[in-house]
Amino acid sequence: MPGLVGRSGQLGAWGATLRAFPSRSAFVEVVGEPGIGKTRLLTEFAAVATAEGRRVSWGGGSEFEQEVPFGAFLGIFDELLRDREAEADPLVTAVVSGQPVSSVAAERHRIYRAVRRLLSAAGARVLVLDDLHWADRASLELLSHLLRHPPAGPLLVVGAYRPRQCSPRLAAAIAETAPALDRVRLDVDPLSEDDVAELLGARAGGCAPRRLFLASGGNPFYLEVLRHLPDTAWTAGPAPALDGDLPAPVLAALRRELVDLPADALAVARAAAVIGDPFDPSLLPEVADLPEEAALTGLNTVTERDLVRQEEGRRSFRFRHPLVRSLVYRDSSGGWRIAAHDRARRALAARGGGPLALAPHVLRAATVGDLDAVALLRRAATDVLDTAPATAVEWLRGALSLLPPGRDPAARLEMLVMKTRALAMTGDLGRSRELLHDMLASAPRRPLGLRVALVAQCALVERVLGHYSAAAGMLTAELAEPDLAGTRAHATRPTAPPDAAVPTKAEVPSEAAVPSEAAVPSEAAVPSEAAVPTNAADATAPSDTAEAAEAADPTLSHPLRLELATVAALRGRFEQSRALVAALGDHANRVVVTAAHAVLAVGGAHTGAIHQARRSVERAAAGVDAMSDRELSGVLDAVGQLGWAETLLEQHAAATRHLERGLALSRRFGQNHVVTYFLLGRCFAANALGELATAVELAGDAAESAQLIASRPMTAMAHALRASAELWLSGPEGAAPWAERAVAATDRHTWWWDAAGGALSRVRLAQGRLAEARDLLADVLSRPAGCMRPTWLALRAEIALAAGDLPLARRSAAEAVDEATALELAGQRGGALVAAARVHLADGRLDLAEDAARRAEEDQHAVGQPLPRARALVTAAEIALAAGDAAAAAEHTRRAKAIARERGATGLRPPVLDLERRLGARLPRPSEPDPAGGAGVLGALTGRERQIAQLLAAGLSNKEIAERLVIAPRTVETHVTRVLRKLAVRSRAGVARLLPDSDPV
Ligand SMILES: Nc1ncnc2c1ncn2[C@@H]1O[C@H](COP(=O)(O)OP(=O)(O)OP(=O)(O)O)[C@@H](O)[C@H]1O
Ligand SMILES: [Mg+2]
Repeated sequence: MPGLVGRSGQLGAWGATLRAFPSRSAFVEVVGEPGIGKTRLLTEFAAVATAEGRRVSWGGGSEFEQEVPFGAFLGIFDELLRDREAEADPLVTAVVSGQPVSSVAAERHRIYRAVRRLLSAAGARVLVLDDLHWADRASLELLSHLLRHPPAGPLLVVGAYRPRQCSPRLAAAIAETAPALDRVRLDVDPLSEDDVAELLGARAGGCAPRRLFLASGGNPFYLEVLRHLPDTAWTAGPAPALDGDLPAPVLAALRRELVDLPADALAVARAAAVIGDPFDPSLLPEVADLPEEAALTGLNTVTERDLVRQEEGRRSFRFRHPLVRSLVYRDSSGGWRIAAHDRARRALAARGGGPLALAPHVLRAATVGDLDAVALLRRAATDVLDTAPATAVEWLRGALSLLPPGRDPAARLEMLVMKTRALAMTGDLGRSRELLHDMLASAPRRPLGLRVALVAQCALVERVLGHYSAAAGMLTAELAEPDLAGTRAHATRPTAPPDAAVPTKAEVPSEAAVPSEAAVPSEAAVPSEAAVPTNAADATAPSDTAEAAEAADPTLSHPLRLELATVAALRGRFEQSRALVAALGDHANRVVVTAAHAVLAVGGAHTGAIHQARRSVERAAAGVDAMSDRELSGVLDAVGQLGWAETLLEQHAAATRHLERGLALSRRFGQNHVVTYFLLGRCFAANALGELATAVELAGDAAESAQLIASRPMTAMAHALRASAELWLSGPEGAAPWAERAVAATDRHTWWWDAAGGALSRVRLAQGRLAEARDLLADVLSRPAGCMRPTWLALRAEIALAAGDLPLARRSAAEAVDEATALELAGQRGGALVAAARVHLADGRLDLAEDAARRAEEDQHAVGQPLPRARALVTAAEIALAAGDAAAAAEHTRRAKAIARERGATGLRPPVLDLERRLGARLPRPSEPDPAGGAGVLGALTGRERQIAQLLAAGLSNKEIAERLVIAPRTVETHVTRVLRKLAVRSRAGVARLLPDSDPV
């Protein structure tokens, strides 16, 4: 490669970044127009890094392969895996080898996490990502993940792109780079006239360099092309290159290189452009349609002419420059190109290439009516649906366009439904919704089952988008259609419109309503593509008898009624929801009945219809527990609703069990679209159970998966839950950023906002920012809060107390206790009683205060919420102190402290320390030896944390600690984070400074 000229500024910046590495991780952007010298600079960067002993891995996008999932990272994965084969994660291995990843149950964020782990384990490494403007969507999501959550170890990523082709997604990924990474932007400008002269070397000094400089505008790629032309061919100034469009003289010069080629060599060049960049030369004879020898001679010629170059140390070749490939590809005739892609497909298939390898060629070669191509693209789309849904959308689009109109309507519908799902998974619910409406507009009413599945799916997307009235409107209209209205024939009462008022008790389904299992296939309850008939005959006009039978089937409309019940519950119209479920009648099968009760359970909990919620939870739980995994996979939505209802009813253990099962099934059956909901519910339960590390981890997972489907409300909920965990873990300052993000992520006056606003209000109270706390809570309480109301009322009491407004505090606390008692929610009542106890304390009514605190602790103990219990104990201790009972105060404090320690709840330290200080000399010596032994700085740590702190101070890595203590590296990470936080130091070195004499224990 000719020497590099100029670029001293960029090289200086790179040198500085390398020197700071590995103690500082960084992301370096190399930005410039086509041909300006980005790749050349990356090559130089890589050489410098290698010379300094750094390992460098290359990857990058490619112009005509933009739908290859993880294309930009494949080279890097390959190397990482080669180095650490034994520890390869099955997810990453599957991605690299092009296996269908859905079979290994992949959510995208789990793949990204696996890559991050791989990078952490790989040690200090430089990742070079060229041509990011061409990177596929999956690669960009992964890049975004790595930049937002850099691996634990050092990481240096350098990425190049053309600014005018930078996609909004790439720009967003870069903009969100975490502060932990130094961000360096290096613009690559045209070379100066001196640089050009230097590059031209021998010809410097004459008039040529000046004219060439002017003609190329300092663009080295243009310069290289133009310098081989006679002077007369140059024009005075270059037209600016826009997005890869070359200026006319450069284009002319390049074309001349091609025109001069012998025919076989030109065919080889064109075949190479079709195969890929880099390309495997063994495919050339077939794709160029030449005898082997001619192809070889052709390859020699194009290599000699420097159109292509062999990759160093490899069999594969690359074009001299992507701009050359682009031109060669575009200059071949359309017909020839199609035939060549088809030959490439056949050649790859003969070598055992799977759908993933063939799909890009099929997409470009197949003609309408090629049913094999349709089948292949459909297979490939299915394989990547979960890991690269954007690619699945492309391939399905291709498959659909190849299916002749009127041919195989069932297959068409199935693919359309799959496409709506893929779109939803990319976060493009809007397009998914549009497509569904289009399908509905043109779909025949028969077969009715299919129509119902489509309407239900469409309503579900509207619901997820928060368009409740649109969803309700379309469902109601559909149910009023004569053929579906007729399906209510078997209802046990005169039918009323779905908006009917309160049902009588008898209408609520009872045990007797459990119907025979055969009534409806379980899939029908939650429509998915499985509900679409796969047999073409089913999709064409059914016979009269079939039609008659269909119209008579009373269960056909159940999916719509169930969906309408769900929407009604979400709109707070619980009675309507109940009426709809009741109207399912005696013929609903047990899967539908179970799903219906899950809706009533969560709807009842949200609206405060707690007794109905309890009954329905019981029914739904029994139904779910009795169902096989396969049956359940048709109604996973319902499992999520059941789990949420259970946690709202403070049945955290049952909730955890159901949500875990739902999560496992959604992974196993590839229903990633429901995963976020499960993760959130599970996180809520973990918080309540005081499993703080788990809660933090789940909140992180939930936020990632919510972001990938672009769901703002679920992102908000994830952050709100994180804030709650952080409030215990690290106090208000640690929690505030999360709660703020939660509030910013969603719209006011929605159920999701209430969770976020409530969390931030609590954080503001802890920060002493009382006016903000009050205003946020007022917003939350301005809407019906359902079963969460006692919690918010108790919070209002505490805010009022802090603000000195005793009358409001008294009123709110009493209301909170009364409402929680009426709802029979012991956990919430415990929280309300703490508020009440504090109010009594402020009133000087110590007997009442003491009683309230004691009952609060009992309540929390009963529902298994350890941290609220510790808070009740802190309150009890304060009251005992005020009453002059130091021994009782000391005992309460000791127990609160033990819980806080066990749970790593540093957030409880300030009140505990305050109590200890106030107890002062009066505090009797603890009856049992304190495990922390008052050991100076280590006093705040648990036994395990102390052990880990000492190993850290002794200089062991996380991995070594994990090995030493025989625990998972992940667990070590969690402990280390906690140790750093508790010791209030930022790094391992800080721990060592605190514990200078640590020996590895
Ligand atoms: N500073 C330089 N000194 C010497 N040669 C250079 C320099 N910069 C670029 N070149 C040469 O110019 C040509 C174009 O550069 P390069 O391929 O790096 O452009 P690029 O910015 O990566 O373009 P694209 O956006 O199309 O990928 C290459 O042949 C490269 O070797
Ligand atoms: Mg380049």
